[in-house]
Amino acid sequence: MEFQGRDIISIEDFSRQEINHILDVSRSMEPLASKGSDMLKGKILATLFFEPSTRTRLSFETAMLKLGGSNIGFAEAEIASVKKGENLADTVRTVENYADAIALRHSLEGAAKLAAEFSKVPIINGGTGAEEHPTQAFIDLYTMRKEKGKIDGLKVALIGDLRYGRTVHSLAYALALYNIELYLVSPESLRMRKDVMQTIKNKIPVTEDANLESIIPHIDVLYVTRIQKERFPDAAEYAKVKGAYKIDLKTLKNAKKDLIILHPLPRVDEIAPEVDYTPQARYFQQVWNGIVVRMALLSLVLGAVK
Ligand code: CP
Repeated sequence: MEFQGRDIISIEDFSRQEINHILDVSRSMEPLASKGSDMLKGKILATLFFEPSTRTRLSFETAMLKLGGSNIGFAEAEIASVKKGENLADTVRTVENYADAIALRHSLEGAAKLAAEFSKVPIINGGTGAEEHPTQAFIDLYTMRKEKGKIDGLKVALIGDLRYGRTVHSLAYALALYNIELYLVSPESLRMRKDVMQTIKNKIPVTEDANLESIIPHIDVLYVTRIQKERFPDAAEYAKVKGAYKIDLKTLKNAKKDLIILHPLPRVDEIAPEVDYTPQARYFQQVWNGIVVRMALLSLVLGAVK
């Protein structure tokens, strides 16, 4: 297993053994996230975010600071030279002179892959269009393993926008490497992308349903996603599915007591605030886990940890 200098573009580029190693290194970062470290002293991360973000950008930057490194970058394309017409390849070939790694978020599918083709320093995909969000999938797996003690044997339901939600694409690919049962719950028009389905359905049992009611008593993990309004090509199509599902206390009445509810966040209205106070809600713990997982990823690709 070699991580130093490696790009993180797609979760599909990682084996089960490599993912487990990343989760182990993430666990070893827990004490360092509290007390700090100088493991990445002198190293610089550039966060190039062409799309809005709260968690991904700030947790990458927090992870870098907790490991003694520094950050540069921008949080919107409006203030970068792309506004003057500069292309992504030139942006990357410029920033590689300033930084030891680049975390990139972009609205276009394939943007991280393209950036990696031009960059001498590792490119970390912080979300590309509706395609993938691999570092979020590492966080989701880490949270499942931390909360349930294992990933194998779990029954996991992904609910919401499975068509445009990039986190569920990366997570589905990753879960297919484990011995799990997967339930995909969404309105008809927001079903899981065909390319993802083709890959996962030969590896694990997958059930598609429009309704959570019959599934909820059996599952161990409920992974909820927002309907990605900004990705709909047609406002009328969005209007048809807006508010199509909502997790509230009534939904959880028949759930297992030790069910955990995850959400990559941001949330809009798909989880009622009353759920935040249930023992099943784990989405804010997931935010903390984002720091340790990104500490692990940075220390691995920058060669501070084997
Ligand atoms: N989970 C996630 O990607 O959140 P942000 O869009 O706030 O980065």
